[in-house]
Amino acid sequence: MTEWTIRDIPSQAGRFAIVTGANSGIGYESALALAAVGADVVLAARSPAKGEAAVARIKALTPGAKVAFRRLDLADLGSVRSFAAAIADEHPALDLLVNNAGVMTPQVRQLTRDGFELQFGTNYLGHFALTAHLLPLLRRGDRPRVVHVSSLAARRGRIAFDDLQRTRRYRPFLVYGQSKLANLMFALELQRRSDAGGWGLMSNAAHPGASATALLANVPTRDARTPLSLRFARWFTPFISQSSADGALPTLFAATAPDACGGGYYGPDGFYELKGKVAPAKIVAAARDPTAAARLWDVSQELTRLQFG
Ligand SMILES: NC(=O)c1ccc[n+]([C@@H]2O[C@H](COP(=O)([O-])OP(=O)(O)OC[C@H]3O[C@@H](n4cnc5c(N)ncnc54)[C@H](OP(=O)(O)O)[C@@H]3O)[C@@H](O)[C@H]2O)c1
Repeated sequence: MTEWTIRDIPSQAGRFAIVTGANSGIGYESALALAAVGADVVLAARSPAKGEAAVARIKALTPGAKVAFRRLDLADLGSVRSFAAAIADEHPALDLLVNNAGVMTPQVRQLTRDGFELQFGTNYLGHFALTAHLLPLLRRGDRPRVVHVSSLAARRGRIAFDDLQRTRRYRPFLVYGQSKLANLMFALELQRRSDAGGWGLMSNAAHPGASATALLANVPTRDARTPLSLRFARWFTPFISQSSADGALPTLFAATAPDACGGGYYGPDGFYELKGKVAPAKIVAAARDPTAAARLWDVSQELTRLQFG
């Protein structure tokens, strides 16, 4: 694939987009780039102060940008429902949803407001619920896309169907891996369901390799349960990672490139996909298993008490 850069993002004028976790890191860079090419972007974030500050930064960098903050706490299904209802009141259709927000490796097991393990509940179930709520709007969108931000950690993930909330054994990084594998399985399953049901979506996924964001800076480096590669990541960050702007490129490719496709997965092309040019990323066998993905979908509908379609 020839190098795809921020200058290759096609005009998004007239398109309405939502980016979750858009106040910092990959989400902020994605929202900034989308606004710069004309999209009307809602920055969904849990903190009004951080969300409004990000809106102000984008407006300062891109005069005339159509950006607005709306509050969304993915660790609270009530907040997800209220957010989607407010969006539906204001917008007849949605053209792009970027499911980006995430938390990584809290050292102690924590819960969402609804009692789910925090990483699974926020990174995956929150976005599952958000997508279900917004599906009617997406179906009225113009060539609607849903992009799911996964991670290299998905390679280490396992969906523990017998203990999804990890009540028995909490290993922070493996639990993060479960949530990011679930994001990837959801991306592929959503495309299959859309194709079968005629929903008209393009659903794909992206990962930013290793990108210098708050997420990496917050890794508990002294915790023996954190994989060695991540414990030393901070020291090696300048060598193994890329900027958050470069880390956003796979997301932006999935969200806008004419060459991106449904069921695709994009990431950097360098060593172990840590950094580099945008390219198709490796999809591990566990993520390609349609039976497991259908089972995860059913369990997620039960947990969130939501039905798609
Ligand atoms: N950086 C990397 O190397 C890397 C690698 C692989 C995958 N990723 C993925 O990339 C995505 C973005 O992460 P990042 O690296 O850009 O880190 P980041 O700068 O920490 O951004 C994470 C965003 O998610 C938001 N968030 C966390 N919990 C939330 C909640 N309950 N409701 C709504 N928003 C919430 C954060 O809000 P607050 O500011 O309020 O906390 C923040 O805006 C994540 O899905 C992450 O798993 C990152």
